[in-house]
Order: sequence, then structure tokens, then C-alpha cells
Amino acid sequence: MLIKRPQDIPSSEITDQAVYQNRRHFMQSLAGISLLPLLGTAQAGYGNKPLQHQKSKIYRLDEELTTHQDITHYNNFYEFGTDKYSPAKSAQQLTTDPWSITVAGAVEKPGTYTLEDILQPHVLEERIYRLRCVEGWSMVIPWIGFPLADLIKRFNPTSKAKFVEFTTLVRKEEMPGTRRGTLNWPYKEGLRIDEAMNPLTLMAVGLYGETMPKQNGAPIRLVVPWKYGFKSIKSIVKINFVERQPVSSWEEAIPREYGFYSNVNPKVDHPRWSQKRERRIGEFLKRKTLMFNGYEEQVADLYKGMDLRKYY
Ligand code: MTE
Repeated sequence: MLIKRPQDIPSSEITDQAVYQNRRHFMQSLAGISLLPLLGTAQAGYGNKPLQHQKSKIYRLDEELTTHQDITHYNNFYEFGTDKYSPAKSAQQLTTDPWSITVAGAVEKPGTYTLEDILQPHVLEERIYRLRCVEGWSMVIPWIGFPLADLIKRFNPTSKAKFVEFTTLVRKEEMPGTRRGTLNWPYKEGLRIDEAMNPLTLMAVGLYGETMPKQNGAPIRLVVPWKYGFKSIKSIVKINFVERQPVSSWEEAIPREYGFYSNVNPKVDHPRWSQKRERRIGEFLKRKTLMFNGYEEQVADLYKGMDLRKYY
């Protein structure tokens, strides 16, 4: 997966601090404004529209946010190319309205739901999470979304639902990367049901106060902050509840390098590079990578008794 190393990012990609501060103030006021109207239920939205939300009091970080420019111009979205800069350009052609998600497998309420159906009862919340990419860089992102657990409960999973498998859209005309055999499309990811039900696991529909930019996985994506970034699958069209552990795309492509769990773990190196440190995008010096990406207190219990070297 590692194609470009962080030090290859041209300095022109890193936003000037003054511009960043101004934008930050603008975004903070935008987020403030969005609190004034009804804190109602979620609305379907596409493109860069302001999104009503509340700010989570729990899921915040005392860390500098990564700039909007970097979050939206340094992306991994292989359906739009394998380099970091293509998605910002080529994802703009993706049609995200109408959008629907098929819910299948071990649930009492399977079916195909429109995005509006999916969002309707949920109150959106801004949560600031770290995202640690397996390639050795990280960001701090103000996502907007709702807990996946709340969505799952609506479909009444049966006792056979031990895992949840997610699938991304494949549309060759609009997703140039899917015309090549980089991965066995569609992109797939999976979680154990208790990981999916963990309160940290987010279905995200926006960031920085606005609907999800296409390059970040519009209109709806997963965010699992204690796992390497590739588990956070974008532009989801299917959620399948299964009994057996599903095979994720990266596991299928390079099983020696990518496991099903992929929890951020500074003690387990990737076969080709160390995972001890990371470069926060926008910073010069590397920082230490934290166990479970800093979410150990919330998730360590999920893996009690498991050998995390074996189940990487
Ligand atoms: N989802 C799909 N469908 N396709 C992808 O290529 N890349 C993953 C993940 N989700 C990817 C994906 C990887 S490797 C990372 S690090 C994150 O998305 C990056 O998310 P971001 O571009 O919003 O930072």
C-alpha cells in the first residue's frame, strides 16, 4: 500500500500557518452557527453543504486539527488512483445522489435503504478522532457522523451475526481506478460485531462542519479510529451481517502484510517498515505511535487474551 513516503509531500501541499489559522476560525464559527438552529435529526446532504450537528463533549482531542486542505488533498481512495493527489481531482465526477445501501445477511430487517432512510433518525455529532494510516502518517479529523451501533440496532441482527462486512461502490465509468486490477474490486472491509458495536465506531457523513467531500468517501463511510486507516472503508453501498470472519480487500491482496484486525500497534512492525513512529501531516518531527492509536482505554477489553502479534 505504501507508494509515497511522507517526506515526498511537496511543501506546497502543506498549508501556510496563517491560512490555516484563518480557516480554522472560519470553520469554528461555521460549526458554531450550525449549533444554533434545531439540533434535529440528520439530513441527507451531498457536496460541500453545511451539516447540522452537535459537538461531542466526549470525543474531542487536545491536539491541533489537520487542515481542511490536507484532509481533502492527501487521500487514499484507490478507486480514484493509487497516488495521494488523484482522489481530490477525479472523485469529483462521482455521483452520490441518489445513494442507497443494501443491508443483508443475518438481520431481521434486510433490504435496500436510501441514504435518507439510513440517516433519518440519527442526530449527527462532531467527533475529533486521530486517523493513523498504515503507511506511517496520521491526521486529526473533525468528523461528523453517528454511532454505527445505533444503525445496526435498527436492523435487528440475529445471533448468527458475528461479523459485519462492508462493501464500497464500484462504478467503472466514474471510478477510473476500478478499471485497473490494483485490487479485486469492490473494496471490502470487515469488523467483528462487538467492534462494530463499540461506541467509538462511527458512520461518518461529513467533516469540518460540511457534508463528506467525495475524495473522503462521500456520501457515507466508516471511521474506526483505533485501527489502521484502511479499515475505515469509504462510499459504502452494502452492509452484510455474517457468521464467518470476512476477508477484507487488503488481506486478500497481500495476506502476509495485512491482517483482519489491523489494530494500531507500535509493537508490531509492518513486514516492510516500523510502526513505532508516525508523521502527523503538517508537522515536521515524527511522534510516537500510541497503542490502539491512543484509544486503549476504550477498546483494549475487546482483545483480552488475544495474541496481538498473531492477530494483527
Ligand atoms: N476505502 C476505499 N473504498 N478505498 C480505499 O482505497 N483507502 C483506505 C481508507 N478507506 C480506501 C478506503 C485507506 S488506506 C486510508 S488511510 C483511509 O481510507 C484514508 O481516508 P482519508 O482519505 O479520508 O484520509
